Amino acid sequence: MSSPTALRADNIGRHYIDGNEKLTVLQNVSLSLNAGEVVALVGRSGSGKSTLLHILGLLDTPNEGEVIVDGTPAGSLSETHRSVVRNARIGFVFQHFFLLPDFNVMENVLMPAKIHFPALQWPMRRAACEDRARTLLESVGLSKHHSHSPRTLSGGERQRVALARALFLEPKILLCDEPTGNLDPESGARIMDLIFDASAKTGAAVMVVTHDVGLAQRAHRRLHLEKGVLKMD
Ligand SMILES: Nc1ncnc2c1ncn2[C@@H]1O[C@H](COP(=O)(O)OP(=O)(O)O)[C@@H](O)[C@H]1O
Ligand SMILES: [Mg+2]
Repeated sequence: MSSPTALRADNIGRHYIDGNEKLTVLQNVSLSLNAGEVVALVGRSGSGKSTLLHILGLLDTPNEGEVIVDGTPAGSLSETHRSVVRNARIGFVFQHFFLLPDFNVMENVLMPAKIHFPALQWPMRRAACEDRARTLLESVGLSKHHSHSPRTLSGGERQRVALARALFLEPKILLCDEPTGNLDPESGARIMDLIFDASAKTGAAVMVVTHDVGLAQRAHRRLHLEKGVLKMD
């Protein structure tokens, strides 16, 4: 039985104009991500991996083609609706974590929920959301760090907080841009285990950009970007 498609990209093109020069970053990229699968995206530096991930995550808009999230063409959405879809359906994990340094670990993990629920509902939702944040932080091995500042955490710990935050709203799609790029091999392997676990448990479709050959081998499928053109490995 084939899995339902969580995310599809049809003939994506992306270029930048610099004076009279046109820099083509992505050409005719088509792919689909199915629920419950982990796909590795590999390619040299500058091949367009981050650009593609940002487009798939609705953080950037392609010049050509369409991204279809759970059956909805992203191009048909208003800016507001796009943000709602992005926050609720798509989790992002970046190489540099992007935690909010002025908020503690618990507050960082709660951030997607605070954005998702109307402010007036928050006082009623708060206790249940904090319970969920505690469960998630426990699952990533950080049950004793709720009130810590991200500044005091190691790289591996920061990435685990970022992952708990990305998983908070049970996204159908999890996009990870070199999530282990700043970590030692042991912390990196732990992050990858957690990403695989999350996908198996929630059925999220996952795309992971990585330079790590061993890590790419663990994925169910590998896609290779070469100068903006997608190839199957
Ligand atoms: N905002 C931008 N303006 C101009 N060129 C860009 C911009 N963003 C990315 N690029 C170019 O697009 C290419 C692909 O970048 P990127 O997607 O970050 O590659 P990767 O993640 O594979 O290293 C690079 O040549 C980069 O310089
Ligand atoms: Mg990149």
